[in-house]
Amino acid sequence: MLFRSLCLSVVLISSLFIHHGARAEVASGKEIIAVIGTGRMGAAAGPRLAAVGHTVIYGTRDPSSEKMRELLGRSPGAKAVSQRQAVQSADLVLLAIPWFATEEFVASSGPWSGKLIMDMVNASKMGDDGLLEVAVDTSAGELIQSWATGATVVKTFNTVSYHIIADPSIAKGLVTIPLASNDAEAKARVAAVVESIGMEPFDAGPLRFSRALEHMSTLHMVPYLQDRWEDAYEFYFVTGTAPLGATGVRLAK
Ligand SMILES: NC(=O)c1ccc[n+]([C@@H]2O[C@H](COP(=O)([O-])OP(=O)(O)OC[C@H]3O[C@@H](n4cnc5c(N)ncnc54)[C@H](OP(=O)(O)O)[C@@H]3O)[C@@H](O)[C@H]2O)c1
Repeated sequence: MLFRSLCLSVVLISSLFIHHGARAEVASGKEIIAVIGTGRMGAAAGPRLAAVGHTVIYGTRDPSSEKMRELLGRSPGAKAVSQRQAVQSADLVLLAIPWFATEEFVASSGPWSGKLIMDMVNASKMGDDGLLEVAVDTSAGELIQSWATGATVVKTFNTVSYHIIADPSIAKGLVTIPLASNDAEAKARVAAVVESIGMEPFDAGPLRFSRALEHMSTLHMVPYLQDRWEDAYEFYFVTGTAPLGATGVRLAK
């Protein structure tokens, strides 16, 4: 609740500092969002974002494909252009492409100055035991931040399944979306986007906590990869659990 109120205040204050066109969008809570990649995640998020009034610009390798026509048909007001054109047409960029393609995409889609990257990419690979492991020493979030000069990265949506983004009611309850970023204003802006599609943002700390969030995504996939689909779960954080009213334990402060 506190994070929600903080987000609203920061978004309202930040709107004063954003150029005029984007300011109207932020003030109304509606954003212009480049959705890069139209696979499972992009094709789940794009229609939901468009349905709640955000302007969606798909960045895709083939804007005239049959797949793209179908996706546009269920994304009110959206259009499809190349990945670079999409980045250059929006200041919020939702990154929904595979890890192996990410460095090349960032290198070929700039300039990045002033862009806010909503990064859902997991830098993972298959381990010898058939389960995922993180493929880098740091995280996709931190590496993308280092490649995209002048941009601000917010790690988001990397711990949730694509089908839950498409239809959060499948989870039969609120789903938590942890956010990691070094920029509080950017994090609040992304939190508002997360809330707009019916999920609960949670401030997970600075961008280096992308490492923990990317490890969480490997954990999230265990039931699927062990063919225990009945055990598939989504993350929901129970908050308000500090020992403030507890007895018989030493308080943390
Ligand atoms: N699936 C999940 O539930 C899930 C959950 C959390 C995080 N993630 C992360 O989200 C990202 C996308 O996952 P996904 O499951 O949506 O993947 P996906 O189904 O494979 O789709 C990725 C999309 O990226 C584009 N793409 C593919 N190869 C590319 C290349 N070489 N260069 C540029 N673009 C390329 C394609 O879109 P176009 O054909 O439009 O170009 C493709 O449809 C991944 O990094 C994944 O780790 C996925």
